[in-house]
Amino acid sequence: MTRIFQTGVREEYFNLLAPVEEKDKGNDRMNSIMQLLRSHRSIREFTDQPVADDLINEIIRCGQSAATSSNLQATTVIRIRKDATRREIARVAGDQQYVVTAGAFLVFCADLHRSAIACEKQGGEFAPGMTEHFIIATVDVALFAQNCAIAAESMGLGICYIGGIRNDPQQICELLDLPDQVYPVFGFCLGYPSQEPEIKPRLPLSVVLKEELYDGENDAPGIEAYDEKLAAYYRTRTGGTKESCWTVEMKNLVGKESRPHMRGFLKSRGFGMK
Ligand SMILES: Cc1cc2nc3c(=O)[nH]c(=O)nc-3n(C[C@H](O)[C@H](O)[C@H](O)COP(=O)(O)O)c2cc1C
Repeated sequence: MTRIFQTGVREEYFNLLAPVEEKDKGNDRMNSIMQLLRSHRSIREFTDQPVADDLINEIIRCGQSAATSSNLQATTVIRIRKDATRREIARVAGDQQYVVTAGAFLVFCADLHRSAIACEKQGGEFAPGMTEHFIIATVDVALFAQNCAIAAESMGLGICYIGGIRNDPQQICELLDLPDQVYPVFGFCLGYPSQEPEIKPRLPLSVVLKEELYDGENDAPGIEAYDEKLAAYYRTRTGGTKESCWTVEMKNLVGKESRPHMRGFLKSRGFGMK
């Protein structure tokens, strides 16, 4: 009989989780689930092994179990099997080849179409273009997908989110025949890893966790230390070819306009900014 652990994880899944590291043994605040969460790294190289349909279904069910604003359940996932479609999506995403080579590829969509129909079924009139609806639908998708990511990783799969599909979201809508009030938030590669990348370090806890009030006074030394750590990570990962650090990456990210077409695109999908 399958045992269900206190965490709700079935025994056979639990056994596949990363073992608790030596240094964390005896630390009763760490368990295998936390260890798994701490061992995440995006995977961009995959073996040819396909991902079984029933495993994907289980992973998606885990996504469905995520919390969802007012039970809105605004996520629709589209699995892309056709090579030609995957190739086109890879191209839109800036020639990210793992979109094609991953064992499976999914597109996560924020979907208010379904709830609009439900509203109309009950004699209501859908209120289009509400910023609040845009936020809750997008948050729903992120929570759903991250549950999928954890479920997949617990089964020995690797994942990589693909925000690159928003380079040309209109093209993705056309390829996937998305109705109004649905927009593609990101793609998602999953498959069996054929690489063992290092874990990317994160900001120090003191920078991200505050007590009572937002106090950024003492963040600078933590960020400086993190810059050095991330620079070392990039050097090792790229054999010395990438010289960068977190603040440089942030300059590149938020120091210029980013996908300025998104506002108009979202408006055209019925996700305006009212
Ligand atoms: C919403 C989202 C979109 C992303 N888009 C891409 C992408 O298009 N291509 C890619 O290679 N990685 C993408 N990533 C992965 C991030 O680059 C990665 O998570 C981050 O650098 C931290 O590294 P790690 O996942 O290995 O810890 C994306 C991640 C998120 C959450």
